[in-house]
Amino acid sequence: MKLPADAVNRLRTFYEGRSVCVTGGAGFIGGHLLDALVSLGASVAVIDDLSNSTVEHVAELMDLEPERVRFVHGSILDPVALSSAVASSGTVFHLAAQGSVPRSVEDPDRTWAVNATGTLRVLETARAARAERVIFAASSSAYGDQPTLPKVETQPAQPLSPYAASKLAGEELLFTWAQCYGLSTVSLRFFNIFGPRQSPDSAYAAVVAAFGKRLINGEALAIFGDGEQTRDMTFVSNAVLALLLGGASGKPLKGEVLNIGTGRRVTVLDLAHAMARACGVTNPVIKHAPVRAGDVKHSIADISRARDLIGYNPVATLEEGLGETLEWFRKSLVKA
Ligand SMILES: NC(=O)c1ccc[n+]([C@@H]2O[C@H](COP(=O)([O-])OP(=O)(O)OC[C@H]3O[C@@H](n4cnc5c(N)ncnc54)[C@H](O)[C@@H]3O)[C@@H](O)[C@H]2O)c1
Repeated sequence: MKLPADAVNRLRTFYEGRSVCVTGGAGFIGGHLLDALVSLGASVAVIDDLSNSTVEHVAELMDLEPERVRFVHGSILDPVALSSAVASSGTVFHLAAQGSVPRSVEDPDRTWAVNATGTLRVLETARAARAERVIFAASSSAYGDQPTLPKVETQPAQPLSPYAASKLAGEELLFTWAQCYGLSTVSLRFFNIFGPRQSPDSAYAAVVAAFGKRLINGEALAIFGDGEQTRDMTFVSNAVLALLLGGASGKPLKGEVLNIGTGRRVTVLDLAHAMARACGVTNPVIKHAPVRAGDVKHSIADISRARDLIGYNPVATLEEGLGETLEWFRKSLVKA
């Protein structure tokens, strides 16, 4: 995953020598953010309870940069572990979450505890540590199933799952902590992030990871519903760039909510065929399953606000992202 050279140069000025914390840094997006922060010269403390990840990638970076990467194995709900990770960090990227919509429908209590109460704990710990800014991985699921497209931040929220409600609560907390305590905060509403190292193995796997593994193994693709639902599929380098820009922006951010997507959408059926073509599969076998509770029909981001406020512009297209992701799946499945 590469960021453009001009962005890297500007970001290096901010991150080189800076202490930052990444909650959920062993996860999919967190791991890519960690790569970028380490290559920009930051010192990074990661906290993760490994409930949805392994320590492998963080451990590799610790071997490479033992002085600059620190891992705290623990939950953001454990005050001692959290304080130890956040201590002396100027910037806190808060990505730790129970991230699955279906799992949130099955276990709303756990989702609320980690995503809402956990976010409150991160804000309080950042405030106590005198951090300058908290950047929150929010979710486009906050928009629900409203027919107005593209989704604009001024639309009222309509959380349709416990996951969406908990992420929306996180945004509200960031806004309140900025107004009430003067902590600089910003929430980035991610739209369907995909890329290398996203897990294809859980029953709740994100669509690109699930399709990628099945195509490479010559298996049928499962689509929930008719496949005409649309998504703004966003390659992970775009999310990482947005996080870095959100942290480095010189604007006095006070709980703003920004869409982070590409401004383009694709049907899940077209995505399946595009991925099949890229894998040399001409007639993929597709099995349709019932629509899942909490899933939304259409999603596409208006990214004007992120562009205006933090200078975000997507750096990778869907096609480039799919190419890199499938390449990674090929290599990692051969290795396994
Ligand atoms: N991937 C997407 O498409 C997407 C879209 C919208 C929002 N987001 C948000 O971005 C963030 C990162 O998502 P991801 O796709 O990398 O998911 P992920 O599950 O790979 O990463 C989340 C990490 O948080 C860790 N974690 C969970 N509970 C924890 C706890 N109590 N304490 C410490 N660590 C804990 C998990 O072990 C995991 O490593 C999440 O907040 C998610 O809600 C992701």
